[in-house]
Amino acid sequence: MKVDVLLGLQWGDEGKGKIVDVLTPKYDIIGRFQGGPNAGHTLEFNGIKHVLRTIPSGIFHKTAINIIGNGVVIDPVVLMAEIDALIKMGVDIKSKLLFSKRAHLILPTHRLLDAASEAAKGKEKIGSTLKGIGPTYMDKTGRNGIRVGDIALPNFKSKYDALVEKHKQILSHHNFEYNLDEMEPEWFKAIEQLKTYTQIESEHFINEAFQNNKSILAEGAQGSLLDIDFGSYPFVTSSNTICAGACTGLGIAPNRIGNVYGIFKAYCTRVGSGPFPTELFDEVGDEIRNNGREFGSVTGRPRRTGWLDLPALKYAVMINGVTELMMMKADVLSGFDTIKVCTGYNYQGEKINYLPYDYSPELLTPIYTELKGWNQDLTGLNDINQIPASLAEYIAFVEKETGVPITIVSVGPDRTQTLIRSKELV
Ligand code: GDP
Ligand code: IMO
Ligand code: MG
Repeated sequence: MKVDVLLGLQWGDEGKGKIVDVLTPKYDIIGRFQGGPNAGHTLEFNGIKHVLRTIPSGIFHKTAINIIGNGVVIDPVVLMAEIDALIKMGVDIKSKLLFSKRAHLILPTHRLLDAASEAAKGKEKIGSTLKGIGPTYMDKTGRNGIRVGDIALPNFKSKYDALVEKHKQILSHHNFEYNLDEMEPEWFKAIEQLKTYTQIESEHFINEAFQNNKSILAEGAQGSLLDIDFGSYPFVTSSNTICAGACTGLGIAPNRIGNVYGIFKAYCTRVGSGPFPTELFDEVGDEIRNNGREFGSVTGRPRRTGWLDLPALKYAVMINGVTELMMMKADVLSGFDTIKVCTGYNYQGEKINYLPYDYSPELLTPIYTELKGWNQDLTGLNDINQIPASLAEYIAFVEKETGVPITIVSVGPDRTQTLIRSKELV
């Protein structure tokens, strides 16, 4: 048995949560491998819409075990709010949710440091979700972090105090006001609650699951173009969002990776700062934003919108070894007479068809191919054979350019609005 990996190929919010939920009945275990509450993974079924932040998107199914892997960073306060909401919905969390002891904790001061750092950057700010992600991963790699397993240690409080002291020192160099006393009680309360959940050594758990022929799906957060190494640095998140992150974030050997499901929107969005070659600043961009309800699931910020960028998509396919593509939000493009797809760029006087090191807007302009749009409302379709011919051509075009089959076409936010093009996924 191999571990399949599902990840976003653009700048996040591709619809990963929806597809994990759709695929969960095929799996015994779902594991989140990186990121933290900067993620917002939306699921819709039976008229319920739910946004998950830290908890894997398999949690609504009766049988699957959901693991928060060592590569994830956890804010106990956000996590407990998330758990409370799920308990209210009748989800049996205790038996289905496991935590890696090696996952790092987001402290209240990590959130303050995130805010102070962004404020200090002014116009150059990353557009962080302000959830403390960057500072927590900095402490992890700086070997100062506090892990879930530490909360059971007798010296937990002194470790906490020592780290907070370091953070206060840094904050004293910023012109930034804060009231830590207001933040700490709920954090420690959430830590006490976290103690009542099962903590595991997820690397052992997962490798034993292999031996027992269990099927495992690793769920990514953010997207490949936000990856700390391969994203549009410095406008990225602070973890490896790519397939390799599933190995380091769950304890999976590279030769255990099976299918790599790459999720992408039929167009592009981005929230926060950073280059976005195909960004639209006109009414077409507004129409995509309104049709697609492109407002952040975590921060509510309007998402920037633009046409599909094939060189960027091909880059993500390459870095991740994507074996199957899943195209989301095809319904949002209904009604445009023509749909543009970027197939290359004019880059410093030269035509190129790959994503270069620096793709700032001053350096490059997209080259577009125009395809015929479709007028039909897709949201009621339940069979891939019912799709309009021009959508079939759009799919074929992307498959030809990327060399990877598109096995799911999503036509609405609900579980049921999912058209499957592969026998293995039925
Ligand atoms: P994630 O972070 O990758 O899980 O994606 P988000 O949940 O942040 O954002 C995706 C948004 O699109 C959510 O509001 C979903 O409910 C919605 N969505 C997912 N798939 C589709 C689709 O095929 N069509 C439409 N119209 N909405 C979709
Ligand atoms: P999901 O999993 C979209 C963006 C932020 C910002 C940059 C860095 O829902 O797809 P951070 O808070 O990580 O330091 O912010 O990354 N960002 C996301 N954008 N979807 C996400 O997650 C994101 N997580 C972070 O907007 O530009
Ligand atoms: Mg999201």
